[in-house]
Amino acid sequence: HLKKTLLALISLTVAMDNGLLKTPPMGWMAWERFRCDIDCKDDPENCIREDLFRDMADRLVEDGWKELGYEYVIIDDCWMSMLRDEHGRLQPDPFRFPGGIAKLARYIHDRGLKLGIYADMGTHTCMGFPGTTLDTINIDAQTFASWGVDYLKFDGCSSNPIEQMLGYPLMSKALNATGRPMAYSCSWPVYVGGLPPKVNYSLLGDICHLWRNYVDIQDSWDSVQGIVEWFSNNQDDLQPAAGPGRWNDPDMLIIGNFGLSVDQARAQMALWAIMAAPLIMSNDLRNLDNSARFILQNKVAVAINQDSMGIQGRRLLQEKNHIEVYWRPLSHSASALVFLSRRTDMPSLYHTSLAKLKYDTGNYEAYDVFTGSTVTGLNATTQFTLSINPSGVVMWYVYPEQTSKETETLHYQHNKASQFTFHKAEPGHLTVL
Ligand code: GLA
Repeated sequence: HLKKTLLALISLTVAMDNGLLKTPPMGWMAWERFRCDIDCKDDPENCIREDLFRDMADRLVEDGWKELGYEYVIIDDCWMSMLRDEHGRLQPDPFRFPGGIAKLARYIHDRGLKLGIYADMGTHTCMGFPGTTLDTINIDAQTFASWGVDYLKFDGCSSNPIEQMLGYPLMSKALNATGRPMAYSCSWPVYVGGLPPKVNYSLLGDICHLWRNYVDIQDSWDSVQGIVEWFSNNQDDLQPAAGPGRWNDPDMLIIGNFGLSVDQARAQMALWAIMAAPLIMSNDLRNLDNSARFILQNKVAVAINQDSMGIQGRRLLQEKNHIEVYWRPLSHSASALVFLSRRTDMPSLYHTSLAKLKYDTGNYEAYDVFTGSTVTGLNATTQFTLSINPSGVVMWYVYPEQTSKETETLHYQHNKASQFTFHKAEPGHLTVL
């Protein structure tokens, strides 16, 4: 009857439908780049402390990120004091967060951004800081709400599957009960293998806004490839689980760090857009080279990621020569295609047609997302040839041919903030404004 009690508890859970994250979240998170560096004496620039988050908030606002939609500043592990306070509440490390989290939240809110924080369903966080056990779920949810937190990443180290099955829905309910809208990111699937029948994706979609499915990303192309491979191999289980307010999370964008070439960085951006993945960077926004900046701030790639239909894309094809094709349907009868080369020799030519990629009969145009050029006069059967760099992509935004001579616009609604307009400058030629 334990099982019965568990099921009853779960069905009592109020669905996490507070209207948040209709499109995948965008922002910045500390973990992949700054890990658990708490050595503020020898490494003051890079240690986990309030200054780091204030610096990143400043960069998001001043360097054009916020207006593109990058709005969450997310604290990861290692922010806590080893001890709860006298009321049993979590508290930040007093030396590294002397102002407290509420003050940091105000700083971030004053700049039009949102604050995320990290906790762990279990006795300890993955790095050994105080965890949230079943009996502290309510108090922790209330503490976060009282601080003005907008997003919770709820990890799952140091707990067993029964505690997770109880704890993740209970935290959802506890967050709802605070009355403060908070996005809820669940790491639950990672700890139970990421796939059905052990993971119930429809339950997850009801209680969480997003969830980590698979292993942690590391600063390498190998890691990115491994993640994409796992998500694609399991797309029949994962892809239908996603939609507005419920997203699979293949983990952070590592663009701007040390492990990816420019081509590989484009590939991560393109594939994360196809996968409707959270665009949460983990890099040093204070020291970012322009190639990384241009890729992360590519308006069309961002707009594709943020498409309002929220349909996750799929891998369509794996050719024997290690070229793969990914596809995502978008609003306004448009779609995105990504041609990925997993070769390691030289730029390779790929011959195909839209018909071969299952497009309906009709006339199309395509905008090349990373070169800015436009391909016109395509119909479904037109043969075309692409050159794809090794561990690189060609990414196309494909839309029905525009017929009127005058300015005709196709636009994406990106969050509330901005709108990207494809403007017909001259017949058959598009520029992105
Ligand atoms: C786990 C998570 C990571 C990060 C670390 C922090 O490994 O998957 O994203 O939060 O814990 O310890």
